[in-house]
Amino acid sequence: MAIYNEKVMEHFMNPHNVGELENADGKGTYGSPVCGDMMQITIKVDENDKIADAKFKTFGCGSAIASSSMATDMIIGRTVEEALELSNNKIVDELGGLPPVKIHCSVLAEHAIKSAIYDYAQKAGKTYKGLEGFDPNEEEEDHHDIPEEE
Ligand code: FES
Repeated sequence: MAIYNEKVMEHFMNPHNVGELENADGKGTYGSPVCGDMMQITIKVDENDKIADAKFKTFGCGSAIASSSMATDMIIGRTVEEALELSNNKIVDELGGLPPVKIHCSVLAEHAIKSAIYDYAQKAGKTYKGLEGFDPNEEEEDHHDIPEEE
């Protein structure tokens, strides 16, 4: 039985934005408290505060690869503030869905992106509303990745 849809498979087989940017403006690494997998995101931010480029490296599963491929696609060309609005639910929607046990893999992508932006903000001396209360070292427990019983 196919548990992954075609879009997820396409991003898994041919992921976009793989690698690490040289002289990145922001770099974030996040380890999932759920499975222990790791993801690194590097970003370049231009003078208009737009994300000019983003790349990812992951030591994670296929869903993490598909999620980060999609997530980096979704933030390139967006402003930093817009990129901070990217939730794991939006990534999953854009992928056309992930199996419930794999939702946490998309959280990895969201969190690694926020960590990279956090690093950028620290270095550039900027503050963003979307970063309020965000601690890159904190293990998030408040993502509800288990669907409620019907
Ligand atoms: Fe760890 Fe998917 S199982 S990222």
